[in-house]
Amino acid sequence: MKVCVLGAAGGIGQPLSLLLKLQLPAGSSLSLYDVAPFTPGVAVDLSHIPTDVKVSGFVGDDVEAAMQDADVVVIPAGVPRKPGMTRDDLFNVNAGIVRNLIGVGAKACPKACFAIVTNPVNSTVPIAAEVLKAAGVYDKRKLFGVTTLDVIRSITFVAEAAGKSVDDVRVDVIGGHSGVTILPLLSSIAGVELSKAQIEALTPRIQEAGTEVVEAKAGAGSATLSMAQAAARFIGSLVSALNGKSVTECCYVQIGEDSRSFHAQPVVLGRNGVESIPALPALSDYEQQLLDDMRATLDGNISKGIEFANS
Ligand code: LMR
Repeated sequence: MKVCVLGAAGGIGQPLSLLLKLQLPAGSSLSLYDVAPFTPGVAVDLSHIPTDVKVSGFVGDDVEAAMQDADVVVIPAGVPRKPGMTRDDLFNVNAGIVRNLIGVGAKACPKACFAIVTNPVNSTVPIAAEVLKAAGVYDKRKLFGVTTLDVIRSITFVAEAAGKSVDDVRVDVIGGHSGVTILPLLSSIAGVELSKAQIEALTPRIQEAGTEVVEAKAGAGSATLSMAQAAARFIGSLVSALNGKSVTECCYVQIGEDSRSFHAQPVVLGRNGVESIPALPALSDYEQQLLDDMRATLDGNISKGIEFANS
């Protein structure tokens, strides 16, 4: 299995690369690319860790070489938020970065699974889909927005509120990955009964958890370490699935034939990426209302990405 990290020398990319070096199956290779000139140094640094994962580093014009024949490409490249910004405020810079990287991937590894971390995920994933379509290599089973950070945050906050071990809590998060489009399903957590007041306090906290980190870092960026852990969990599940083990993870994918139908929800992953997308569980009235209310925002984010890619 060859996994390529684009943006590997950045705040998310470095810890993500470390986690992948530690957790990828023996015999895998890890290909690190970034525009930062010290990227080959990050690869050398990681290569001294004794795991059976081969690491190589690429920089500058070598992005195509980095991606050549990759099975999985994960993209945390891009700029982070500063206090007062929304994820959508990153669009102008990050949309072009994703468009260019996916354009190279369409040639270098057209059969790869592409997992996008770069914000605004609600828009960058549709951009990637359009670029892959234009190149004639789009496979909706193999394009993902990584929304796992919403899941791991939900697990942490729910476990705290319910006095449970995090190991005993599993939470699905649907919708998208920004503000009101993040919808944790807190009414149907197996083994956990939250009160209405707890649900109505936890839901906005989870929706704004990224902003909580941005404000706490006071201008030095957004979540990097928890994001790296979240992406490593998703890539770990995806690699297991590609190797034949069926795994379910929440992620942002095209859910229907309509190319605008991107949505985060639990997805069954298998040898070819998305294997099936189960129907959503029954929602409480509160969750249904939030789902209905987010639609216009999510549709707007998706259209913005599609229009950008085709402009
Ligand atoms: C997060 O959820 O922490 C990330 O999407 C980064 C951000 O800007 O909030």
